[in-house]
Amino acid sequence: MVVDVIEVGRHVGEEVTIKGWLYNKRSSGKIRFLLVRDGTAVIQCVLSRQDAGDAVFDSFDRLTQESSLIVRGVVSEDARSPLGYELQAKGIEIVQIADGYPISPQEHGTAFLMDHRHLWLRSSQQHAILKVRHEVIRAIREYFDDNGFVLIDAPILTPNACEGTTTLFETKYFDSKAYLSQSGQLYMEAACMAFKKVYCFGPTFRAEKSKTRRHLIEFWMVEPEVAYATLDDIIDLEEGVTLHVLKRVLGGRRAELELLGRDVDLLESIAGPFPRYTYTEVVEMLGKLGSSVKWGDDLGGDEETVLTEQFKTPIFVHHYPTESTSFYIEPDPENGELSQSVDLLAPEGYGEIIGGGSLRISSLELLEKRIEEHALPREIFEWYLDLRRYGSVPHGGFGVGVERLVRWICGRKHIRETIPFPRLLGRMYP
Ligand code: 4AD
Ligand code: MG
Repeated sequence: MVVDVIEVGRHVGEEVTIKGWLYNKRSSGKIRFLLVRDGTAVIQCVLSRQDAGDAVFDSFDRLTQESSLIVRGVVSEDARSPLGYELQAKGIEIVQIADGYPISPQEHGTAFLMDHRHLWLRSSQQHAILKVRHEVIRAIREYFDDNGFVLIDAPILTPNACEGTTTLFETKYFDSKAYLSQSGQLYMEAACMAFKKVYCFGPTFRAEKSKTRRHLIEFWMVEPEVAYATLDDIIDLEEGVTLHVLKRVLGGRRAELELLGRDVDLLESIAGPFPRYTYTEVVEMLGKLGSSVKWGDDLGGDEETVLTEQFKTPIFVHHYPTESTSFYIEPDPENGELSQSVDLLAPEGYGEIIGGGSLRISSLELLEKRIEEHALPREIFEWYLDLRRYGSVPHGGFGVGVERLVRWICGRKHIRETIPFPRLLGRMYP
């Protein structure tokens, strides 16, 4: 019977067949060991001349790292191995001998590994990160699906900018121009007026000339939008989804986090409510921490690092200055200099993981004024203005940066490892 390695525990004492690739091998006295991975887990296969016969035993010498092979053997318990089981091999079929696999167990430079990303995915740490990523995405979807949100897909080719005109990717759309989506938000605003609570989940694109550990050119974003929401509702929703993701990942992907050397206890200790600070309070805190940031300045990556290094739990920063926020953000009714906006920053120096959180302008006149102030092409926003003409209500939402979230949960330095095939400034291969 062919089984996935992860399932061998159900077949102790039985003969099974596994299909995979050679991860590593070693010999000890008269015994040979093959570490075989099949994508679900790694298992040690034990070869002895007596049990396996000469032909099988001698195939050990021919097998190279990442050769593909099919092993038949009997499952036994093995408390010393991470899997808890091993296979006493009886038959080996070599599918293909890998000739000089480029990624050896010793250290390689980043550029080399990035050039071989298509193979690097097989390495244990990269494999673990992408399994955490899957769990994160599944948990986010589960949270919104279970809380009455309707999934509404946003288009990728768009006629308008959402997050500023400087980071747009332009492409041809027959005889006119189109841009790759920076955010599905504007479409979610339309959708929430039809369905009340909606979200989209898709790739987004920013032609950002920033070469940092937290920027990708193409990244995945989950964007909920809620009609009749208050800023507190938005904050609670951000907190709810973050805690749910942590719970699921700690429940289902603990082994992967441990393999990555993540401080699992620290993640486990995180509980709501997360501390909430105004932008103004944060500027004061940063001043005390030696930063030269002044009221009105953008909080960049450096400021976020300094600030969040002080925390072990995510923090909310809300009421950013209206001046520095996106065109669609509703000002505070009591003080127009402040906006009804919020970001969620991850602790330990990681910084923004959820952004764009805000109430959106619901007044037609104010929105028209902002579109003009931001020099956006009004014709293309007519449909968006319609939402303020026909049954306008307070509403809001936010964008969860999937890779930013995975980077923090996995405790990785660089965001490039949190997406299977990263698109970075100066890199589009493989
Ligand atoms: O803060 P941003 O730009 O917000 C928006 O796009 C809103 N329109 C979302 C909304 O309200 N529906 O982006 C949201 C999140 C950021 O907090 C960050 O996690 C991630 O998207 N993000 C990036 N991740 C990787 N690389 C980049 N270049 C990113 N830019 C933003
Ligand atoms: Mg942001």
